[in-house]
Amino acid sequence: MTNREELNIALIGFGTVGSGVARILSTQAENIAVRAGRPVRLRRVVVRDLCKSREHLPADVTVSTDLQDVISDPEIQLAVQLIGGTDPAFDYMTRLLAAGKDVVTANKALLYLHGETLFRQASDQQRTIGFEAAVAGGIPIVSAVTQALTGNQILSLEAILNGTSNFILTHMLDDDKTYDDVLKEAQSLGYAEADPAMDVDGTDAAQKLSILTQLAFSTRVPLESFVKQGIDGLELLDLQVASDLGYKIKLLATSRLNDDQLEMSVQPTLIRADREIAKTDGADNIVAVRGDAVGMTRFSGAGAGQLPTASAVVADIIDYATGRTAVTFESVLRTLAQPDRTVQPPGELSRRCYLRFTVDDRPHVLADVADVLGRNGISISSVHQEETSDDSAARNGSARLVIMTHRTTEGNLRAADKEIGQLSSIQGTSIRLPVAD
Ligand SMILES: NC(=O)c1ccc[n+]([C@@H]2O[C@H](COP(=O)([O-])OP(=O)(O)OC[C@H]3O[C@@H](n4cnc5c(N)ncnc54)[C@H](OP(=O)(O)O)[C@@H]3O)[C@@H](O)[C@H]2O)c1
Repeated sequence: MTNREELNIALIGFGTVGSGVARILSTQAENIAVRAGRPVRLRRVVVRDLCKSREHLPADVTVSTDLQDVISDPEIQLAVQLIGGTDPAFDYMTRLLAAGKDVVTANKALLYLHGETLFRQASDQQRTIGFEAAVAGGIPIVSAVTQALTGNQILSLEAILNGTSNFILTHMLDDDKTYDDVLKEAQSLGYAEADPAMDVDGTDAAQKLSILTQLAFSTRVPLESFVKQGIDGLELLDLQVASDLGYKIKLLATSRLNDDQLEMSVQPTLIRADREIAKTDGADNIVAVRGDAVGMTRFSGAGAGQLPTASAVVADIIDYATGRTAVTFESVLRTLAQPDRTVQPPGELSRRCYLRFTVDDRPHVLADVADVLGRNGISISSVHQEETSDDSAARNGSARLVIMTHRTTEGNLRAADKEIGQLSSIQGTSIRLPVAD
C-alpha cells in the first residue's frame, strides 16, 4: 500500500470513548490526513445494542453487533477496541490479531491481565498494539516512556492515576464533606462509575502503575506483589489534620529503583502541599518521571473523559497510519523481553508515616502507644494531640492522637499495628498512611 491510500478502520465499541474518537475523526479529518499522510476513514462500528441512538456516528458507517463483520472485511486494517472489561474484550482482541488486524485499545484492565499474551500473539503474527489511552487517558505518558525518554534509565515514577479518587479527595477537603457525600456527587457528575470499587480501592491505579512499570523498568509486577491501599477508609478528619500539618493526601502510585530493586506502592499518601503533585486537584492525573539524564519531568492533565481519552486513541491511529507504531511496538517488545528486576518485598518498604488514633482521654495512653512503637524500632518525629476540656461534662472520654514517625519499615509498622490494636485505650479504627519525601 502506498502512503496516499486511505486507512480504513473499525471501532469495536461506540460508548463514551468510541463516540469521542468518531467525533475527532470527523471534525479534524483534514488535520489528521496531513499528520497521518493519508485520510483515515471510519468504515465499521461494532456495538452490543443496535437500537441505541449514537451521537457522532457518520451516516456512511456500517454498524453491526458481529465482530466477524470486521474480521472478514479485508479493507479494515486497524481495529480500535473500546469495550471495557476483559470479557469479551480479550476474545475479540485475539480474534482480531489472528485475522491479521492491527489493534489500538484504551482498555487497561485487559492489558494488565492479558497484556503478555496479547503482545506475544501480536509479535508472532507481526501485528501491532497501540495503547496510549490505557494509562492516564489524555496524558501522553506511554509515548513519553516508550519514545521521548528512552535515552534515560528511569529512576522513579510518582503518579496520581485515578481521577475518581483524586476528585473525591479534593472535594472532601475543599467542601468540608464526607467521603460518602462526595462519592455520590462524583457519580452524579459522571466522574465515578455506578460501581466505583476498582477506583476507590486502588485497583485501577495499581493496574495502570503495573503497566507503566513494565514499560519503564521492563518488569511485570502483579498487584499482589506490592502494597495497595484505597481511599475508601479515609475520613475528612485525616485530610484536615494533614492539611494543618502542611500536607495534602493523594492516592499516590509510586515505582522507584532502589539499589537495583523496584520499590512499588499505591497508597493514600501525605505529600507536602507545595509540591506539584499535591497541587493536582479534581479529576486530573499527573505522572512525574525522573530519568538519570533528564532529571524530573511532569505530565499532567485529564486522565479520563470522552475527548481527552479519544485524543490519545486518535494519536495512536495516526501513529499507526505513519508506520510509527510498528517501530515503537518492536522496541517495546524488546524492552519487555529484558530480565525482570527484583521487587522489594512489601515488608521492607521504608517511609515516614502518619498515624492517627482515637484514644481514651486518660493518663499514660500516649506512653503506651509510644512504648509499642519504640519496641518495634519506630522512632517518633512529632506528636499532635487536640486539646480537650478540663470540664468533665464537656469531655466525651476520647481524644485524637496523631503521631508522625521517622523513616521506618512497613514490617515494623505492621508489627506495631497488631500490638496497638490490642491496647485497651485504643477506640475504633486507627489510620496509618505513608509520607512522601
Ligand atoms: N471513559 C473514559 O474516560 C475512559 C478513559 C480511559 C480509558 N477508558 C477505557 O476505554 C474503554 C471504553 O470505555 P467507555 O467509557 O467508552 O465504555 P462505554 O461507554 O461503556 O462503552 C462501551 C462500548 O462497548 C460496547 N460493547 C460492550 N460489550 C460489547 C460486546 N459484547 N460486543 C460489542 N460491543 C460491546 C458497548 O455497546 P453498546 O453501546 O451497544 O452498549 C459500548 O458502545 C474501557 O476499556 C475503559 O476502561 C475509558
